[in-house]
Amino acid sequence: MSDLPIEEIRKLFAFTRVYLDQQHDLFGPSLPDLITSPEITVDARKKAELLDSYYKQIANCQNCKLGKTRKNLVFGSGNPDAKLLVIGEGPGADEDETGYPFVGRAGQLLTAILKAINFTRQDVYIANIVKCRPPQNRKPEPDEVAECMPHLKKQIEIIRPAIILALGATAANTLLANADSLGSMRGRIHTFENTPLVVTYHPAALLRNPNYKPETWQDVQFLRKQYDSLVQ
Ligand code: URA
Repeated sequence: MSDLPIEEIRKLFAFTRVYLDQQHDLFGPSLPDLITSPEITVDARKKAELLDSYYKQIANCQNCKLGKTRKNLVFGSGNPDAKLLVIGEGPGADEDETGYPFVGRAGQLLTAILKAINFTRQDVYIANIVKCRPPQNRKPEPDEVAECMPHLKKQIEIIRPAIILALGATAANTLLANADSLGSMRGRIHTFENTPLVVTYHPAALLRNPNYKPETWQDVQFLRKQYDSLVQ
């Protein structure tokens, strides 16, 4: 029998379930071999390899102080060939624990929001402005964002999404280099280095304030429309 305390065993089961759910979302009921599966195009395979090799380069990053307190660097997950890239703020406790973005409560809501506009997590790629958890879930500080943005830019360069969805003001203000309110950025197309970008509320904000739900619904329908016009 294991010597682990029961709480640790429970936590282990909980994270295993999150991980398996995520793999199910990503790959469906049977996990394909990413390297040999014939349904995966050469371009997608190349992107997967490039992302994997970049992840290996930065997995032990200590370029900012978040490196000292994180458990896992949360690189990003999803379809390396996604046409929709979703960008949040930074990992929370569950993401820090598992190494995967948006696996906690906000992540479950994000999965439901994507599903409402006919995307699975297998269709999209999800990343954050910063890859390491800010202590006590505080907002990432400007020096942390500045150190981490080159990593996100590299991911964008590899994935080449057709459109970006920025979740919340931190992601939107960082990507658009402005200090505008979230409300004023909604409902129109912006661009991040030539890639169209739309903005909506962060799912964690929706959990705190469900009154934002109707506006979020409008935003993601707008996103779907733009996506459909850009992606054949
Ligand atoms: N909030 C974020 O912004 N990103 C995550 O990965 C999880 C919660």
